[in-house]
Amino acid sequence: MNSLVDNQIEEFSNNDIILEVHDLSFRYSRKQSLVLKNISVKFFRNNLTIIAGPNGSGKTTLMKHFNGQLLSQQGQIIVFNKQISKKNRREIQKLVGLVFENPDEQMFFPKVYDDVAFGPKNMQLPLEEIQVRVENALEEVQITHLKEKMTFNLSFGEKKKVALAGILAMRPKLMILDEPTIGIDPWTKPRMIETIRSLTNKRTIVVITHDVDVMKMADRLLLMKQGKIEGDFLSFNEFQQQEFQNR
Ligand SMILES: Nc1ncnc2c1ncn2[C@@H]1O[C@H](COP(=O)(O)OP(=O)(O)OP(=O)(O)O)[C@@H](O)[C@H]1O
Ligand SMILES: [Mg+2]
Repeated sequence: MNSLVDNQIEEFSNNDIILEVHDLSFRYSRKQSLVLKNISVKFFRNNLTIIAGPNGSGKTTLMKHFNGQLLSQQGQIIVFNKQISKKNRREIQKLVGLVFENPDEQMFFPKVYDDVAFGPKNMQLPLEEIQVRVENALEEVQITHLKEKMTFNLSFGEKKKVALAGILAMRPKLMILDEPTIGIDPWTKPRMIETIRSLTNKRTIVVITHDVDVMKMADRLLLMKQGKIEGDFLSFNEFQQQEFQNR
């Protein structure tokens, strides 16, 4: 692993560690081979970390462990000093928000407003607070005009923004976004990138992406290959030099 990252880790105190993965291994079924292989990694407060890597390397599988959607079979995940388990994963899901690549995986209501309000309602917040959060989230991703629309009529990109707003409305301290710019038009993409960047002022963000424009914003880049973290870099340039120098 890259020595620069060891230096970076020394700069952070234990209070800055938001999420720790210890020796995590996972397979989807007994007949299948391991999809995650002895992964250990730490994520730091208010940092924007990118996870990149080839298709099938295990990025989405790893992120699904970060809020207990998948439970570890071997190893541990500790988030905000709590070890994720079957018992506490509902609580953890209020602190850790996952935004999936395919928005259809996380849209449940016919109306946009209700869909974005679902998370905060589930948290049993007062009605006024729910309304404020929904309005703010819609504004943050610039889709206030879609508020009264039916979700099933939306374009793919619009659905992605609604899904993102739904997670934002829960105000998680840690957000993990899987391919947030795929399907987003080049007119909207700069704004989307700006939104992701601005999120890090208040939160810790992990973004899974192959999009170079997103990678350039990273405080840190992790490279996954075949179920392992093969590289840990402090800038896109460093990542690019090491990963693509032999091509
Ligand atoms: N529900 C599942 N059941 C069985 N195997 C699965 C399941 N989901 C993923 N896999 C397998 O696990 C491996 C890792 O998949 P994963 O989706 O985590 O990769 P990824 O790095 O996110 O890829 P991509 O860049 O294509 O999104 C792949 O070989 C995939 O076929
Ligand atoms: Mg994936």
